[in-house]
Amino acid sequence: MTTTYADSTTPGTHTIRPGAFGNATELRCRECGASSPLGAHYACSECFGPLEVGYDFPTVTREQIAAGPHNIWRYRELLPVPADVASFPNTEPGLTRLVRADRLAADLDLARLWVKDDSGNPTHSFKDRVVAVALTAARELGFQVLACPSTGNLANAVAAAAARAGIRSVVLVPHNLEQQKIVTTAVYGGTLVAVEGTYDDVNRLASEIAGEEETWAFVNVNVRPYYAEGSKTLGYEIAEQLGWRLPEQIVVPIASGAQLVKIDKGIRELVELGLVEDTPYRIFGAQATGCSPVSAAFHAGHDVVAPVKPQTLAKSLAIGNPADGPYVLDVVRRTGGTVEDVSDEEVVDGIARLARTEGIFGETAGGVTVATLAKLVRTGKLDPAAETVIINSGDGLKTLDAIAGRVGPKATIRPTYEAFTEAGLA
Ligand SMILES: Cc1ncc(COP(=O)(O)O)c(C=O)c1O
Repeated sequence: MTTTYADSTTPGTHTIRPGAFGNATELRCRECGASSPLGAHYACSECFGPLEVGYDFPTVTREQIAAGPHNIWRYRELLPVPADVASFPNTEPGLTRLVRADRLAADLDLARLWVKDDSGNPTHSFKDRVVAVALTAARELGFQVLACPSTGNLANAVAAAAARAGIRSVVLVPHNLEQQKIVTTAVYGGTLVAVEGTYDDVNRLASEIAGEEETWAFVNVNVRPYYAEGSKTLGYEIAEQLGWRLPEQIVVPIASGAQLVKIDKGIRELVELGLVEDTPYRIFGAQATGCSPVSAAFHAGHDVVAPVKPQTLAKSLAIGNPADGPYVLDVVRRTGGTVEDVSDEEVVDGIARLARTEGIFGETAGGVTVATLAKLVRTGKLDPAAETVIINSGDGLKTLDAIAGRVGPKATIRPTYEAFTEAGLA
């Protein structure tokens, strides 16, 4: 089927090639369920609710997946991408390691714990997954510029993916972002803009620009339905790496909440396709107290999330008005999990704890997740006997300042053995 369209949300008139979105069949409203055709739409034409991709999956086997590329494209049949997606330049994220974390488990009195270490992606966070899918959609829809508002990691991923694809990138970030994330975005050569305001101000500006610049794909705004699907691959990989079965508990950091919601969607798809047994699992959300609107809504028993002004060192999670907040509440309540929040001091403890016990240096989001895990154990909300997976979604090298005051050399000495022993180091 070839669809030609031209409307206010598309980059001019563009012909979508047959099979451009693989087994995806529609964009479905998450609020009223109305169906829209696949295209550059992100809000429902009936009720303005957010759209998500719907599919008609064929039979997919474990063997087929295992025979695929060593990256997220092994799951291409389950994503809104064409069959030849791997032949276009992209950063090829995914299939990051699932680390058995026995020392962290012992530290927390847990029976079986795994760390899904997504700092191993090409730009060192899970954002490479979502951007790879968004870049594909942007290309298939005829957009010419890859853009985003970002709390930092998305900035890295968009700038790198656009560089690989040979297209322009425009990235908007809050002006007070960590220096490491500024450098690791600017190095790819796109247009990086520091905006005086919070992420939520940056996001509003991005929506305004998206409305004016018809050829720009803002990955998490006007191609968000496609972008968000990339996080399903975290759920697929966890199941595949556990030998095609589900863990009993998963702890996921929350900013917009899309990652958590899509991990759940990915798991449910695996069950529907018969790729894993339908065993019970609980999903837990993790936030920093200085930006914890979803945790607050969960504890108040609300279905909607009241926006907050973020004030936390976990800047990658500092979204005060999270787009997927209500859907996080649905997933967490449906699966029997909770959303918890932890102080900035606990976040730093979490970073140090993961590094000390497992040799994994996570960024502040990882610190939030480890600290939340510890809190869930301490408060009896997580079953210590059940198998648990936590997501380390980014790399500590990008948030050095968070931990720099806590660690350093034991001593500074003259270059002699005498000085070494005098300092009590032997
Ligand atoms: C390292 C890291 N982890 C987790 C998240 C949260 O992702 P989401 O916005 O999908 O909830 C972000 C978002 O920027 C991030 O940068």
